[in-house]
Amino acid sequence: MAASGEPWRQWQEEVAAVVVVGSCMTDLVSLTSRLPKTGETIHGHKFFIGFGGKGANQCVQAARLGATTSMVCKVGKDSFGNDYIENLKQNDISTEFTYQTKDAATGTASIIVNNEVKTLFNPAPAIADLDPRFYTVSDVFCCNESEAEILTGLTVNSAADAGEAALVLLRRGCQVVIITLGAEGCVVLSQTEPEPKHIPTEKVKAVDTTGAGDSFVGALAFYLAYYPNLSLEDMLKRSNFIAAVSVQAAGTQSSYPYKKDLPLTLF
Ligand SMILES: Nc1ncnc2c1ncn2[C@@H]1O[C@H](COP(=O)(O)OP(=O)(O)O)[C@@H](O)[C@H]1O
Ligand SMILES: *[C@@H]1O[C@H](CO)[C@@H](O)[C@H](O)[C@H]1NC(C)=O
Ligand SMILES: *[C@@H]1O[C@H](CO)[C@@H](O)[C@H](O)[C@H]1NC(C)=O
Repeated sequence: MAASGEPWRQWQEEVAAVVVVGSCMTDLVSLTSRLPKTGETIHGHKFFIGFGGKGANQCVQAARLGATTSMVCKVGKDSFGNDYIENLKQNDISTEFTYQTKDAATGTASIIVNNEVKTLFNPAPAIADLDPRFYTVSDVFCCNESEAEILTGLTVNSAADAGEAALVLLRRGCQVVIITLGAEGCVVLSQTEPEPKHIPTEKVKAVDTTGAGDSFVGALAFYLAYYPNLSLEDMLKRSNFIAAVSVQAAGTQSSYPYKKDLPLTLF
C-alpha cells in the first residue's frame, strides 16, 4: 500500500464506509396481557432486554450486510451502556466514536454519512418545524408515512399521497426523497426525476414490523456506500427485500439478516 503512491487509500481503509450519527437505546420489554392503569402494578409473563435505538439499528443492518461501519453516539456510563458497546462490537461496528456519559442519552434524529459527500437523513422522530438546513444538506431524505404527515401537514395513506408529500419535501431542497409505505414498499423521487415512482415489494407474512424502517435505511446506506453504480430504483428494490426479511422474525436487531443468509443476487 505504502508503495502504491496513493496514500489516501491507506487512510480510506481505516475509515468506515457508513457512519451513523444517532441513538443507541436499551429496550426493556415486559410482556403483559394489558397495559397497567396509572399507578397500578400488574404481573408480566415475560421480560427481556433488547438493543434498539434507530441509529444503532440502521448501523447494525448495514454492518450485517458487510459494510464497514462506525457508530457516533453516547450511551450511559452504566451497565446498559457497557452492554451496548459490547453489542456494537459483536456486530463488527467501530466504537471509536461511541462515548459514555453520566447524562441521560437522548435519541432524536439519525444521519448516515458515507465518507465524503453522501448524506442520508432519517427524520425520526419527526417534528413539524425541522430546521430547514436538514433538507438542503440531505442527499437522501428518507422517512415513513407518519413522519411525512408531520413534516408536510398532508395526509399520507397511499402511494399517491406519498408522492405528493415527497414532492413537498423535495422542494425544500433535498436531492432525493423516499417515503416508506410498510407492506406497500416505498415511493421515490429526485431533483433529476421529480415524477414520483412507486417501488412495491413482495407480500410477506409479517411477524413483527418493529424496526423495519431502520432495516430499510441501513440497507440503503449499505448500497449507497458499496454499490454506488446501481440505479436508485434497484437499491430500493433490494432494501425493500431486506426489510421484508426483517419483518418475518421477532425483535428489532435480532430480526436483521446477515449477508450470508440472503440471496447472492442482492450483492
Ligand atoms: N408487512 C410488510 N411486508 C413487506 N415489507 C414490509 C412490511 N412492512 C415493512 N416492510 C418493509 O419495510 C420498509 C419500512 O417499513 P415502514 O413500516 O414504512 O417503516 P417504519 O418501520 O419506519 O414504520 C418498507 O418500505 C418495506 O420495504
Ligand atoms: C414511523 O416512524 C415513527 C418513528 O419515528 C413511528 O413512531 C411510527 O409508528 C412510524 N409510522 C408508520 C406508519 O409506520
Ligand atoms: C462504476 O461505473 C464507473 C463508470 O461507469 C466505473 O468506472 C466504475 O469502475 C464503476 N464502479 C464500480 C464499483 O462498479
